[in-house]
Amino acid sequence: MNRFTQKLLAWYDTHKRDLPWRDCGDPYRIWISEIILQQTRIAQGTSYYLRFIEQWPDVESLARAPEDEVMKAWEGLGYDSRARNLHFAARQVVEKGGFPKDYDGVKALKGIGEYTAAAICSMAYGLPYAAIDGNAYRVLGRVFAVEEPIDTIRGKRYYTQLAQQLMDASQPGKFNQAVMDFGAMQCVPQNPDCHSCPLSMLCAAHASGRVHAFPCKSKRLPIKERHFTYLYIIVANQAVLMHKRQDKDIWRGLCEPYLIERTHAGENGLDNDFIQTLVRSAHAKLQPLRSGVKHVLTHRIIHADFHLLHVESLEAIPDGYELIPVKAFSQLALPVLVRQNLPEALV
Ligand code: ADE
Repeated sequence: MNRFTQKLLAWYDTHKRDLPWRDCGDPYRIWISEIILQQTRIAQGTSYYLRFIEQWPDVESLARAPEDEVMKAWEGLGYDSRARNLHFAARQVVEKGGFPKDYDGVKALKGIGEYTAAAICSMAYGLPYAAIDGNAYRVLGRVFAVEEPIDTIRGKRYYTQLAQQLMDASQPGKFNQAVMDFGAMQCVPQNPDCHSCPLSMLCAAHASGRVHAFPCKSKRLPIKERHFTYLYIIVANQAVLMHKRQDKDIWRGLCEPYLIERTHAGENGLDNDFIQTLVRSAHAKLQPLRSGVKHVLTHRIIHADFHLLHVESLEAIPDGYELIPVKAFSQLALPVLVRQNLPEALV
């Protein structure tokens, strides 16, 4: 075994995190954990994982679940296409008669890319596929001072080949998880403690004092800013006007109150005919709830204002909206931004 892998696995033997999906050998559980952990920290992801597995302990039960229930269980994790794809793929698995047993079969499932297929195959089946996540890019990028950028096809191929060569093929699941834990606990993104690091003697970035220069990137994607005005329209204290997002956009399948998307900051957007008619109706009461809320997503920043409008009745319901009884409101799956900015009456 090469020295990198020897030292890494020795470190893992003493520092390994005790995580509920570890060493279970069940591709379904490993798959669920990997999808949850793609964009979520372990501390938050673990409780979701445990609830998810309790609710749907196997792929057959997940395949039978209505999509809305899966979306509801996912609420708060974000990147909801993960939940939709999980549910879709569970049905694919059941149709095929069981979880695929090889890399190509696993990778053919919806929502499973190279990383996740490698993670599942190595951890559940002991197949020698290196799973390269952000931790692996950082650890390998630093130790071997890799100049290839991680956001090019060529760079990705380079890292994959490097990891495949380093991997101990007799224990690929252990190797992959050791790299993940090492990246999460020792070789952290900011200010790693290189003095306590068992790999520092081998680390090319450390030797040249350039730990923060790795892994290399070729470009950064621009951040898009959006401006939302949300209005909770509560009718006769009984029902609230809600919309389920359908478009090919963020938050598909999640529910939100009446939305006006503005192109610019500044004006509040409450001047359309529908709102103006409601505001002028008898006993209508409009109040600001919160303004200037900043919500950061990958490649997007959303600036949101929230208002509350009580009315006695609605003459018409705008396209795509529905009146949801206040009593049923807690059943809805909401984006985190909405969940964190509810009016008192809906909490
Ligand atoms: N991140 C994603 N999958 C993981 C795993 N199996 N162990 C630790 N961190 C992870």
